[in-house]
Amino acid sequence: MEVVILSGTSRIASLAADAIEALLRRKPDAVLGLATGSSPLPIYDELARRHDKDGLDFSQAHGFALDEYVGLEPGHEQSYREVIRREFTDRVNISEAKVHTPDGAAADIPAACEAYEEAIKAAGGVDLQILGVGTDGHIGFNEPGSSLASRTRIKTLIEQTRRDNARFFGSVNDVPHHVITQGLGTIMEARHVILVATGAQKAQAVHNFVEGPVSAICAASVLQMHPHATILVDEAAASSLKLADYYRHSYDNKPAWQGL
Ligand code: F6R
Repeated sequence: MEVVILSGTSRIASLAADAIEALLRRKPDAVLGLATGSSPLPIYDELARRHDKDGLDFSQAHGFALDEYVGLEPGHEQSYREVIRREFTDRVNISEAKVHTPDGAAADIPAACEAYEEAIKAAGGVDLQILGVGTDGHIGFNEPGSSLASRTRIKTLIEQTRRDNARFFGSVNDVPHHVITQGLGTIMEARHVILVATGAQKAQAVHNFVEGPVSAICAASVLQMHPHATILVDEAAASSLKLADYYRHSYDNKPAWQGL
């Protein structure tokens, strides 16, 4: 796990976009794992900017969302299918047919979850997964207590997450109770994960998953077992890290050839 402490959101977005750009140049049909929520938005802005300005090409790329709400009517503006379309895929030249979200409106949810796992496999697996982290340490919507080996499935949101996400819906009462999320086992199969966290409200979760025990009570801690996990944080989100000076020193003295 590499922790990189950066001065602000635009630096984080630029480093994450560098990694995605390098991947696409090396492998134009790369499979991108797409998070929603507010953390990845600056990355999507930066990718859209590079597409417009430098012609960064997504025409052969694939995208898989991490998760989706259950029970929102199709086309609901807060469904993650719509959020990803609005914030990212409509702004670059990725083909709509290659962008997938779990089907939160499926009549048979377990079958939809299985189909999602199969679709990821058929695309060759996720090359680079973007992640945010919840204040309770969730990644995807793997709430505390999620099996570290879990696959795509339905989960019940914890009330704290519903309150955190009320800002997107207007009222907590409108935030669904259920979601479909890639499991921790699914996320762990991505070849590279880049987790971004900004703001003091994430400081405790970042400390817990980076420096605490690997435990289902803090789902993101499973990333300690990932062979290639990059954690990009701003100063506020890094403020509870015990080894912050060491992470800074390591990054400042990193061999140039290593990349992220
Ligand atoms: C979103 C997702 C969640 C968010 C997390 C942080 O697809 O899976 O894990 O990344 O809730 O959300 P923000 O970035 O809004 O603080």
